[in-house]
Amino acid sequence: MPRFLALLALASLPLSLGLTIGDQDMRAGTIGQQLNTLRSGLGWHDCSCGTILRPKHTEEVADIVMALYRDQQVTGQKYLVRASSQGFMSHNNFSCACASVASDTRAVMLDMSAMNKVLEFNDDRETVTVQAGITFEALERTLLEYDMSLPGVVVAPQLSGMTVGAAIVTSAHGSSLVGPANIAAFLQSALLVDGTGDIHTLDTPGELLEGSLGMLGVVTEVTMYVQAKKKMAVRQIMSEDFDLVADLRDIIDNSEALALDVTWNPTAGMYQARVWHETDAGSRGDARNMVLQPPADWLAALPDRVHADQLDAHDREGHMCEIIGEMSHFPPFVHSPGQEPDESTPPDTAVGWLNHMASASCTPHPGLADAAKAAGAKGVLHGSAPSPSCLLGAAKWTPYELAIHSQDFSAWLADARAVLRHARGCPPFTLTFRFVGESDAPLALSSGRQVVAVELSVLSSPRAGGLPPKFARLHEELLQMTMCKYNGRPQWALATNRLFRGAPCAVRDLYGSAFDKFLAQRSSYDPAAMFVPPLFEDVVERREAVRYPGCAARMDCFCTADEHCGRGHVCVPGHEFPEYRVCAPIEQQERHEL
Ligand SMILES: *[C@@H]1O[C@H](CO)[C@@H](O)[C@H](O)[C@H]1NC(C)=O
Repeated sequence: MPRFLALLALASLPLSLGLTIGDQDMRAGTIGQQLNTLRSGLGWHDCSCGTILRPKHTEEVADIVMALYRDQQVTGQKYLVRASSQGFMSHNNFSCACASVASDTRAVMLDMSAMNKVLEFNDDRETVTVQAGITFEALERTLLEYDMSLPGVVVAPQLSGMTVGAAIVTSAHGSSLVGPANIAAFLQSALLVDGTGDIHTLDTPGELLEGSLGMLGVVTEVTMYVQAKKKMAVRQIMSEDFDLVADLRDIIDNSEALALDVTWNPTAGMYQARVWHETDAGSRGDARNMVLQPPADWLAALPDRVHADQLDAHDREGHMCEIIGEMSHFPPFVHSPGQEPDESTPPDTAVGWLNHMASASCTPHPGLADAAKAAGAKGVLHGSAPSPSCLLGAAKWTPYELAIHSQDFSAWLADARAVLRHARGCPPFTLTFRFVGESDAPLALSSGRQVVAVELSVLSSPRAGGLPPKFARLHEELLQMTMCKYNGRPQWALATNRLFRGAPCAVRDLYGSAFDKFLAQRSSYDPAAMFVPPLFEDVVERREAVRYPGCAARMDCFCTADEHCGRGHVCVPGHEFPEYRVCAPIEQQERHEL
């Protein structure tokens, strides 16, 4: 890695670094495009930067930051440093230093992809020490090789491609009814490189780091508690949604479930609840989470179908009703042939290792791949071989997440139903609910309150250009209602810029005095504000959106005028909440007024 060696040499000559970072810029062009881009794992904008450095150890991160900090002290040159990784799982301007950097500031990206090692197992203390750039997928696999499981119940984020560091600082989570649902709560210690290049060893750092968005420094290593490998039995219930709240309350109060997550398909009037119990480690079953891996032939046809749906602005053809209906019938967990649970297990129950079931991966199920090969044919199970590709690649799948106080869930659901009743056809989104216990970390999603994290995932076509997603008006009304009527906090990674800048209520106010507490921590760890992305300054200052023609169609603003919506759309008041303005297709609006 000649780039990196050059940097190391420089790091010992900090005063010349500013200049040489400039040289890096120039040389980068000859090294190749790839090194200059971090690919988005979610079909969001890639992060393209002049300077992307790829450290391998904590000390290298510290050398880089210290050199930049000293240069800033001596020459006054400002820097913005952000850490991310290849295939990063976020879709807003927090993660990429080069997204919207001021002209007087040099952006430096740290690509943490090479800091993906498992460093140490401590059997006595039941801990594992990893570099923060390891993905959950790799961590889960390694732990199982050592007969270990992740801590807690379901702490892994839904997308296993997320790194441990990213999950901690963006407050990503799983779902749990009996304890914390995030990895931050299970940290024994962590190494943090602060904004001056100092390395801090932090004890039980979850309360400091969760939700801190990389603004206290770069988390480079963590030691987390783990447990003996754990087998789970997950029952899937599919039911009509008339009594959704009462049904869920019944499960929570009476089933002794350890975890619960629920997908709601309001236009079909159905929900699917997955109810998690621990089961005997000796029981049969090797289920894996296949949510991102629907059958390959179905996936191959999906891009055209989603595209056709998005062009059908008035939903006359109903493509999405079919797509979502089919999706809801694919099994969320799949066993290898011959590994199905035994007869005493109810047919709606999947059994497998926690680490294989907790989060969804794009890696083909090895059991199925082997079986398919052995059979010499496709179609061993469910009429199809496992997909070599992934839902995340076949369409634009954009998860939005907002966390509301769990005591408001029932009222929220009634309002959401009222909004969705206006759907004439099938909106291209499903809702998922996860349960997250209260956290003490100031900017954690569940800071100071137990939350239901509401995920609204939108399927759209990457080819649809400036066209808003279908039923954008309902989506926009739901988002604004959830955030502003219910104080729903946007998840730091899984929300677009417009929720952080320019929503009808300010993100900062959703955290109360905890926000100020965080600001004080931030300035003590990073006095030169090297890790503060401009979008966070917007949050601090409660800034208005920057609006331009088409900004709402690009999910960059909520409209205040027709020109903010894409072609054929106008800016109108929401159906149920006229205080929130949304983009609606022109004809539909006329029909509505008649
Ligand atoms: C986000 O970054 C893009 C450049 O990648 C920039 O054009 C846009 O204005 C930024 N948006 C916000 C809200 O900061």
